[in-house]
Amino acid sequence: MDNRLFIFDTTLRDGEQVPGCQLNTVEKIQVAKALEALGVDVIEAGFPISSPGDFNSVIEISKAVTWPTICALTRSVQKDIDVAVDALRFAKHKRIHTGIGTSDSHIKYKFNSNREEIIERAVAAVKYARRFVEDVEFYAEDAGRTENEYLARVIEAVIKAGATVVNIPDTTGYCLPSEYGAKIKYLIDHVDGIDKAIISTHCHNDLGMATANTIAGVLNGARQVEVTINGIGERAGNTALEEIAMIIKSHHEIDIQTNINTQKIYPTSRMVSSLMNMPVQPNKAIVGRNAFAHSSGIHQDGVLKNVQTYEIIDPHDVGIDDNSIVLTARSGRAALKNRLSVLGVKLEQDNLDKVYEEFLKLADKKKDINDDDILVLAGADRAQNHR
Ligand code: KIV
Ligand code: ZN
Repeated sequence: MDNRLFIFDTTLRDGEQVPGCQLNTVEKIQVAKALEALGVDVIEAGFPISSPGDFNSVIEISKAVTWPTICALTRSVQKDIDVAVDALRFAKHKRIHTGIGTSDSHIKYKFNSNREEIIERAVAAVKYARRFVEDVEFYAEDAGRTENEYLARVIEAVIKAGATVVNIPDTTGYCLPSEYGAKIKYLIDHVDGIDKAIISTHCHNDLGMATANTIAGVLNGARQVEVTINGIGERAGNTALEEIAMIIKSHHEIDIQTNINTQKIYPTSRMVSSLMNMPVQPNKAIVGRNAFAHSSGIHQDGVLKNVQTYEIIDPHDVGIDDNSIVLTARSGRAALKNRLSVLGVKLEQDNLDKVYEEFLKLADKKKDINDDDILVLAGADRAQNHR
């Protein structure tokens, strides 16, 4: 099986659906250029029929970004596809992402339809899109809750109709990783012609399993993953790009490569967070403020002896300057001694013990111990230390 994993970024489409995160066209171009520099393969730039703003953004992103494929979302509706084709007219590499709900609840409540009619609509949409572009991705919305046998029939029909990528969304974030992985395997084993298309994952994080499900999909043969920066997206969000990129980079046994320049992960994360006015939780994997901060004495001591004791990723690999040893009431002498030595203060053991006792008293009262605090405790000051 091919060992190249394509990264499809939907920060500007699924990510941008988050209330209060809307970007204007100029900001979207800024994000799209950052995604291009990061090395994503596909940028889902918007849902052109949904608003004039989305339509215009797809046009402008298509002009501004040339290396990745630019993708536009549609429903299985001819008018949506016409508008998407128009919005993509300047794209060097273009893709239409069309689809329809395939779970029984979508078929019954959203479409008041039946399984056979849904297959017909899906096939018609793919065939129609293929009249305008060579690259057509089909999404089976709510595939996570779609019965595998029926899903396989839908996927087989759309591949025959010309779909080049088939997206298997866990729209509601419901699947267990074992179940989602088995679903991908079922399609590989049961769909005629599956080798003609790339299988894509698209997982939501409602139960905190988006990343695990995406990896389960990849381990079972998916070769495209749909992700967003910082995991932003509808409700609890989508699979986070940075998590997938670093899992693939750290776990060599998976034997898969992406095109992501991981050193650009952190700056891109900061940019998206600030433009979308969406703070990143401090304990967020890879890009959270505390992701490389060590605060307990035992961990600090270990990291100061050898970072491999408590770090599985070199912070430089994701574009962060260094790990940080945060001085708190749980820090040990080793961390205090190390910080003082970075500040140019060397203390004998007796003195260090006394300063450490004072440090603990202060740390119990004050949450943020800064360099000035410990210099005062050590009887030194910044001016002295810089002489
Ligand atoms: O979650 C989902 O099912 C989607 C599709 C529109 C791809 O975002
Ligand atoms: Zn989605």
